[in-house]
Amino acid sequence: MKLCMIGTGYVGLVSGVCFADLGNDVICVDKDTKKIDQLIKGKVPIYEPGLTELVTKNYKNKRLNFSTNLKKSVKDSDIIFICVGTPTKKHGSSADLSQIYNVAKEISSSINKFKIIITKSTVPLTTGDEIEKILSKKNNKKKFSVVSNPEFLREGEAIRDFIYPDRVVVGSNNKKSNRILKSLYSPLISKGASYLQTSRRAAELIKYASNAFLATKITFINEIANLCEKTGVNVEDISIGMGLDKRIGSRFLRAGPAYGGSCFPKDTKAITSTADKFKSNLSVVKSVIKSNKNRSNLLLNRVYEILGKRIKNKKITFLGVTFKANTDDMRDSSSLLMIPALSKKGAIIKYFDPTGSKKEFSNIKNVYYSKTIKYSLEDSDLVIIHTEWNDFKSINFKNLLKNKKVIIYDMRNIYTPTKIKNQGFKYYSIGR
Ligand code: UDX
Repeated sequence: MKLCMIGTGYVGLVSGVCFADLGNDVICVDKDTKKIDQLIKGKVPIYEPGLTELVTKNYKNKRLNFSTNLKKSVKDSDIIFICVGTPTKKHGSSADLSQIYNVAKEISSSINKFKIIITKSTVPLTTGDEIEKILSKKNNKKKFSVVSNPEFLREGEAIRDFIYPDRVVVGSNNKKSNRILKSLYSPLISKGASYLQTSRRAAELIKYASNAFLATKITFINEIANLCEKTGVNVEDISIGMGLDKRIGSRFLRAGPAYGGSCFPKDTKAITSTADKFKSNLSVVKSVIKSNKNRSNLLLNRVYEILGKRIKNKKITFLGVTFKANTDDMRDSSSLLMIPALSKKGAIIKYFDPTGSKKEFSNIKNVYYSKTIKYSLEDSDLVIIHTEWNDFKSINFKNLLKNKKVIIYDMRNIYTPTKIKNQGFKYYSIGR
């Protein structure tokens, strides 16, 4: 099938490359000429394990191509995926849909035969209805069908999540589109993915409700971890004990820093804003947003306590600064709040991240990037393990930290407390 992905960000690029790998002809479009030039040269602008190899392979075998010409690419394709950003509006908490509607207007003048127009970006309830209105101004309704087909890709695991999804959700009541899309996804369905066909509005809401629920699950266990810390209970026992109940499930019950990334913070805000618009109060999600916002301050206060409130000139190492492991994404990472706050209090901060130095810290006083874990640990008073990269899972602290007074604060519970304590270090973690 001939597919066009509009927007070569995370969603568009990963989905486009994976569709090409499944044997479709895919053209990825972006208005950013520099990005397209780079992609043609095989240079992938985001860090995602396995993506560069798939781009090179499929570009070489000519199933994948790149272009800045939206109109021509749409004309040449049967299925158009809209994969542009839907960030939070500068003022307020609803999603900014200007990129979506601009793209819809451009598509509108390129409908030369029947086309399926799909929103893969996360878009609020009723966005599909609006796109349909835009397209109807210039086109007969029989010439197109607007479908919602949300993505559920995790950064760092995106290719695996695409190939082995738990479910594929397709929101459309158009019989022809449903037949074509079921066939497009048949290689994944045959490998065991559930295929759910719903109304368009339901598909839009499934995406937001899923992310809001996962954010709730994380926030819930984070609050339980706070209680565990006060009562001498190990939160990992609680996660296992709860997770064994099949109604609850064990995933997304890892306590840690505040959740971050490009989706949860943005989508939780957007779903409450949509609900408010329809005079429906999502009070649970609202309190999740509030609790997660407080979490970075809560962990910062814990750092102050651990250091005995004497922060000035203390040398603090951050291992990992992105919002989670296996990504270079800094969006809404809790390190963005913690590092500047510690610097303001006079701490000297060194950080190591497997994805390199971060521009976000380049103008912050006394914050330095170290090229290796070893350098980052030199002379440290406090080591904060902020993300769960494999690189941090078997550090020989005994060899690397000569000063036994160094304190380790493991915000991802990577290590067993007794193991580190037996090496002579003071060790703190989350909820245990
Ligand atoms: C998420 C959704 O999982 C994905 O389906 C959606 O399409 C995009 O948003 P992503 O943002 O890549 O994916 O990251 P995810 O792995 O879900 O983690 C989000 C945040 O939650 C991270 O900050 C992570 O560290 C945190 N998290 C996750 C926890 O603190 N505990 C957990 O148990 C799981």
